[in-house]
Amino acid sequence: MTPDDPAAAPSLGVRIGALTLKNPLLAASGTCGYGLEIAHLVDLSTLGGIVTKGLYLAARDGCEVPRIAETPAGLLNAIGLQGIGIRAFVESVLPRLQAHNTAVIVNVCGETIEEYAEVARLASQAPGVHALEINISCPNVKTGGIAFGTDPVMTHDVVAAVRRASRLPVIPKLSPNVTDITVFARACEEAGADAVSCVNTFLGLAIDVESRKPKLAFGTGGLSGPAIRPLAVRMTWQAARAVKIPIIGIGGIAAANDALEFLIAGATAVQVGTLNFSRPNIYAEIEAGLRDYLTRHDLKNIQALSGTLQYPR
Ligand SMILES: Cc1cc2nc3c(=O)[nH]c(=O)nc-3n(C[C@H](O)[C@H](O)[C@H](O)COP(=O)(O)O)c2cc1C
Repeated sequence: MTPDDPAAAPSLGVRIGALTLKNPLLAASGTCGYGLEIAHLVDLSTLGGIVTKGLYLAARDGCEVPRIAETPAGLLNAIGLQGIGIRAFVESVLPRLQAHNTAVIVNVCGETIEEYAEVARLASQAPGVHALEINISCPNVKTGGIAFGTDPVMTHDVVAAVRRASRLPVIPKLSPNVTDITVFARACEEAGADAVSCVNTFLGLAIDVESRKPKLAFGTGGLSGPAIRPLAVRMTWQAARAVKIPIIGIGGIAAANDALEFLIAGATAVQVGTLNFSRPNIYAEIEAGLRDYLTRHDLKNIQALSGTLQYPR
């Protein structure tokens, strides 16, 4: 069977700058540890790639517990970027992760622009890291995080600094907690980003009415899961129309049709987050659904679907 053979199976491979993925399905940062934690539940080689939990230079303990509260069709979390630090990741996790034959995208964090650049430099020097996702959008830390992702000048400056520090594809992760996401997508593109991830969690607050205290120790948290999907699809659609670089859609994906919504809205790839906690083996089902869709719609490859939304209807 050749690629031109009309009976050839449709291709799920996608390109994000210099990054080639065997399929457009990525495990989202913070919902699969460093990948190895879910390796006994899902064959990692069947994923396009995994995005690691956020990594700073040093190890961090994260927030006090409780750090998770369930909400209708969603999850509110304030983990606070607990992690082992980039050096421990490179020394003790990466060698074992490489054996799994999937793209490894490091989620880069920092309290300062210099820290972002240094984490990016150390990750880039390590064999087996395929791209960098720049976390400028975490709502659950007191310093850095969302502050970088809600100011277009700071967004530009941190992305430009990481760009200078690394030759790997640079993928800033946008915050949805802004009025106009296109301003931030453009700032990333102008600073040399290869793509943008769209989006991180929405700032939320859940209250225990008996104690009249927040349910989370940190106070506010980030909302994820199916509850945010229409918001994230809308932002993906807006960002895709504003920039030429690829978009990675994220937010509440729980089935093939959910992934298809993001792709049709303009995403080139997608990430699955909260669903990893309840259904980490969802990927095979989504992949089969994507293949079935391409066959039914007579499309030869998944990239042909990106941005085909007919709007207005
Ligand atoms: C428990 C938890 C931890 C997360 N940790 C990170 C993180 O370390 N870095 C990051 O960029 N995003 C983090 N996120 C955000 C997710 O990667 C994703 O953007 C968000 O959850 C929306 O996708 P979903 O609705 O599929 O979960 C985290 C989300 C959850 C639920």
